[in-house]
Amino acid sequence: MGIAAVGVVMARAMETDRADRMFSDPYARSFVDAAEAVIGTDEWQPLAAWVDLFYSRGVVRTRFVDDFLRDAVAGDCAQVVLLGAGLDARAFRLPLADADVFEVDTSPVFAFKDTVLADAGARSTARSRTAVRADLREDFAARLADSTFDPDRPTAWVAEGVLPYLTVEQARHVITHVGALSAPGSKLVFEHSDKPGPDPRAAALTTPGADRISAMIRGGLGPEGRDWVAGRGWSVEAVERGELGPRYGRPDDRLAGGQFIIATRD
Ligand SMILES: C[S@@+](CC[C@H](N)C(=O)[O-])C[C@H]1O[C@@H](n2cnc3c(N)ncnc32)[C@H](O)[C@@H]1O
Repeated sequence: MGIAAVGVVMARAMETDRADRMFSDPYARSFVDAAEAVIGTDEWQPLAAWVDLFYSRGVVRTRFVDDFLRDAVAGDCAQVVLLGAGLDARAFRLPLADADVFEVDTSPVFAFKDTVLADAGARSTARSRTAVRADLREDFAARLADSTFDPDRPTAWVAEGVLPYLTVEQARHVITHVGALSAPGSKLVFEHSDKPGPDPRAAALTTPGADRISAMIRGGLGPEGRDWVAGRGWSVEAVERGELGPRYGRPDDRLAGGQFIIATRD
């Protein structure tokens, strides 16, 4: 089980416990409890430090992507692909009865995830939910094509918290394939930063323990990511992350310096 996927689900579990929560993920706590049983203490401590630094970003991102998906599915997108799905439980907690959901991640992640969901008695809320075991750096497009995924139907693509774990070449490889598999009207959401802000990654590099997780970051599409995507057949809209805190009733200076990009296939 990848520790990066556990960090964000820890934040979701904490948020779900709050009276003023901005979303509810009823499976997040089950994932955290099961992960704690298999992850050693020396890895659990860095995770807690990481979550402290990234909490506000993680929960705002979750809420933003939840809203993005609801809107996309209420519009023309009848397929959803979660790239690097990790412990994202949207196929079990969002009203996606009009959509077929495809989750792309590695086999060990699905082995853990599907066991926990089965033990929790989770049932998918999507029309269908398909686990696609693939490496985003290599064969994910072919594995999707082998499944019931239909490139002629508009698709909502979620690249949440995954591109930064790839190099710029690998991230471009992913988005190039996403473009090739996207019918007109398809949507893509990802997080972007084109200017230096109060980046918690800087603090993570000097926070004992959290530095081990920061070391996994490769940068993803990088500061040119938004323009690079816009030059490849997508119309791009940017939403400032800092504006979302107040919108969701949780202003926080640590949200500044980044954007969410919603790209629509021309
Ligand atoms: C930080 S987690 C985010 C998970 C999820 N999107 C979320 O926001 O909860 C990153 C996920 O990307 C997956 N991932 C990273 N590199 C990958 C690759 N090359 N191929 C497939 N999955 C990958 C990891 O296994 C992990 O589950």
